[in-house]
Amino acid sequence: MPTIRLTDTSLHYIDRGHGPAVILLLHAFPMSSAMWQPQVDVLSRRHRVIAPDVRGFGSSGEPPESLLMSSMADDVWHLIDTLGIGKVVVCGLSMGGYVAFELWRRAPELFAGLVLADTRATADDAPGRENRERFAQGARAHGMAWVADEMMNKLLRPAAPPGVVAEVRRIILQGTPAGVAAAQRGMALRADSTGLLAQIDVPTLAIVGAEDALTPPAVVQAMASKIPEARLETIPEAGHLSNLEAPAPFAAAVLRHVDTCTRLL
Ligand code: MLT
Repeated sequence: MPTIRLTDTSLHYIDRGHGPAVILLLHAFPMSSAMWQPQVDVLSRRHRVIAPDVRGFGSSGEPPESLLMSSMADDVWHLIDTLGIGKVVVCGLSMGGYVAFELWRRAPELFAGLVLADTRATADDAPGRENRERFAQGARAHGMAWVADEMMNKLLRPAAPPGVVAEVRRIILQGTPAGVAAAQRGMALRADSTGLLAQIDVPTLAIVGAEDALTPPAVVQAMASKIPEARLETIPEAGHLSNLEAPAPFAAAVLRHVDTCTRLL
């Protein structure tokens, strides 16, 4: 799989398929582009799909101590620019949604459409920021098996199929404590994007797993209601990583939305 060199690190990404749209998939914490495999398989039959690994996750290079959402968005922007792509439908899940907001701040003209899955526009409160610092230090002290143990019941429903549980664990274990710490500190520092929502003037689909414990349906619905052209799809029998617990309904929803965006190009 390809890699681009950035000034101080390297970014690994999936690049598959051809078609009328380019779909940019931005992964959740503490995952990697590997979490998008079921969607890459479906979406790349009709469109080009790009899915980068955030620094410190998957096969991308070393992160700094703290990796701001704006830095993650800069990396993505450099990737899209290097590939010579003019327009993308951006799909971010959870942390990927935070990165999508920063990419919008940086380059709204890049967006042909937007999918915000299992994410929120609000920033952390003080206890939330303190928890992230504790988690960053815990990851450094105890390693990735500890990270997987801590995260699993937040990311998936108790009833998630064992195969999905094993896959999420496998992907988490490929990350690094430095990546986890950097992303937690970056998420703690993220801006409140609520004020941005009214400015998003591309077709937007909000997706939420009906049993998402981290960003419950009411949170995603409140976010979507502030975006002028947004629709909401709630996916039954899915938790926070709705794309992995319900891969086919998730991919179908994204595909329908991309078709709408492509007709408007
Ligand atoms: C994620 O799934 O990306 C994280 O749970 C987001 C967060 O910690 O806010």
